[in-house]
This record gives sequence, C-alpha cells and structure tokens, in this order.
Amino acid sequence: MSVPYFDLTRQYAQLQNEIETAIRDVNRSGAFILGPAVQAFEQAFANYCGVKFGLGAGSGTDALTFALRALGIGKGDEVILPSFTFVATGFAILFAGAKPVFADVDFETYTMDPKSVEKLITKRTKAILPVHLYGQVADMDSLMAIAKKKKLKVIEDACQAHGARRGDVRAGAFGDAGCFSFYPTKNLGAFGDGGMIVTDQQKLVEKIQRLRNLGRLTASGPHHEIGWTSRLDSLQAAILNVKLKHLDQFIDKRRQAAKRYEKNLSSTPLGLPRDKKNSFHVYHLYVVLVPDGKRDAFRKFLADRGIRTLLHYDLPVHLQPPFKKIAAPRSLPVTQKLSRQIVSLPLFPEMTMEEVDRVTDSIKDFYR
Ligand SMILES: Cc1ncc(COP(=O)(O)O)c(C=O)c1O
Repeated sequence: MSVPYFDLTRQYAQLQNEIETAIRDVNRSGAFILGPAVQAFEQAFANYCGVKFGLGAGSGTDALTFALRALGIGKGDEVILPSFTFVATGFAILFAGAKPVFADVDFETYTMDPKSVEKLITKRTKAILPVHLYGQVADMDSLMAIAKKKKLKVIEDACQAHGARRGDVRAGAFGDAGCFSFYPTKNLGAFGDGGMIVTDQQKLVEKIQRLRNLGRLTASGPHHEIGWTSRLDSLQAAILNVKLKHLDQFIDKRRQAAKRYEKNLSSTPLGLPRDKKNSFHVYHLYVVLVPDGKRDAFRKFLADRGIRTLLHYDLPVHLQPPFKKIAAPRSLPVTQKLSRQIVSLPLFPEMTMEEVDRVTDSIKDFYR
C-alpha cells in the first residue's frame, strides 16, 4: 500500500467547519485586501513568534526581499547566506539588488556554519541571512555574536521553521527581521501563497508596508517609492488565523512521526536528523542521508513500493544557473556532500504511525 509524500486533504477535513466559517466572514465583509483579517493574523503571528510586529506579504520570497530592502540593503552590499537552502533565499538577495555570498553548512544540523561565515566577511558585507532549514534553528548564538561584533544586520529565513525554538526564543525573533512562507505544505500553510516578516523594530513597519503596496501606505495618495504588489490577502490571513490555533498540535504530531522514524531507522546505515541540545526541531521535512552512492537505488526501491520521496536540495544554490554566473567559484565541501546524500521522506501532521512503519519497513527491506 502506498504512502503519500504529503496529503493536504486530511487537515482540511479536520478543520473544515472552522475554515469555511472564516472564509465566509471575509466574503461577507468585502474586505479582501489588507482588511481586519490581515491585521488580526499579523498580530497573532507576531505574538506567537514573541515579537512586536508582523507584516504580511505575498510570499516568503517577497518577505525576505522586503526585509532586506527595509534594512537598507541593496546595490554594492554583500549578504552571506548558506548555499544549502531553497533557491528563493538567494533570489531575495538578488531582488534587493545585493550580492549573495555563499557559506557552507554544519554537517549535523544542515544549517549555516558560523566558522564559514566569519571567513567570508569583507568591508562590503552588510548582513547575514541564516536559514532554519528543515525546521531546525541555526546556531543563532554564534551567528548573532558575529553579527554584533562586525555590526551586521541579521535576517532570518524561517520559511521552514514556524514554531521552532532555540532555548526559549522562537525562529524569527533573533535577528533584525524574521521571514516566513505560508506555502500550503509549510508547517503553517495557506490555501495558496503567502508570507510574513516579523520584527521588533518599529522603523521597519512603514517601510515594509510601503514596499508591499506599490510604494504607499494607503489606497490613495502619492507613491513615495517603487514598490511591489505583494500583500497577504484577507482570505489567506483568515485561514491562517484558524490554523495558527492548531499549529502547536500540528508540530507535536510532526515530532511524534519524526521520533518514530528515528526509533525505527536507528539500526540502518542512514544518517538521521536529531534535535540538538537546547533546540526544538519542528520537522518541516524529515531528511535522511543515504550514504555510499546508493541514493538513486534507495529512491527507486521506495517508489516501486508506492512511497514517494523528494530531494531538498540536490543542487546547491551557488551552482544553480542564475547564480553560477555571478557567484565566485567556491568550495563548499559539506554542502556538496549533503546535496549528494539527502532524501526527504514523507512527513505531515496527519500521517499515521502505520504509514511511518510502512516507510521504515521498506527501508529495512532495502538494506536487507
Ligand atoms: C528556506 C526557504 N526560503 C524561502 C522560501 C520561499 O517562500 P515562498 O515559496 O513562499 O516564496 C521557501 C519556501 O518555499 C523556503 O523553504
């Protein structure tokens, strides 16, 4: 029997009444753009993250772009990011007009390696952009210390890490700004695209409100600067506000499935993700490492048994065509090693333990 990689219909079935009521309320209000539903969700999500302000945007990519721009980062500036991430992290730096500089990652956490970052800082470096990959917060203690010493801005890519923590601090609340995506399969997912910037800095609020709204704050009046049309719409905000109330429960279920994977797979040769000490992993993705060049055979074996797997990410960002032309050739050994071994197994909050066992039984058969 097959196991889906992800199944959005199960969550909808569980929340259908609440979500349909929220959608109906927006429809009846007629306030589809930047209405009260958006404000309510912005405040609720900011509170959840433990920061003062939330600013909706049309996507996670745009949230990152606006955060960089609002912090004054643009032409001539360098921004350090990990190459082992989704391509959008790099695109946002290009959209802001700055130059991406690629750091390596730590082999255990798959997140930005502070030692690699330190070596890349130049006079032109303005910011670092750590990514809380797969749902685990990067080493923010070390990265914030570097940023403080070198007077750099910090923009967190928390697009995969809603609710993740290091110590008591939630993803998005460490740096100058934290950016989230609400793509449907994210830990907190909309029924389409959406994003948000969270920040404690009042001075960023109006800047971001203008950037997302064609350069002005209101529906009429002058356009003070060049801006995007990239707002979180009211229907998505209303849906997200319903789902936010269940987010901790969704995370709990992801963690239970992850623990079951860990228990069942501990005797196999696979490299497994783990909660680092003092951190709370929210398992947006459950990514294992398949050693010895066996990845293709491993994936085919599972696919033949109806188990779909994905690769996040088999081509590092600095090697993607738009970046190859502009980024200095760089040796990123950990990134390259990981990109050859990673495989994402099925994981979603409504996945049953029987489904996890079906995946792990097939993996054990592969190694038998
Ligand atoms: C790490 C990371 N950064 C940025 C993004 C961009 O978000 P979006 O697809 O909402 O533009 C995503 C998600 O897709 C992501 O996973």
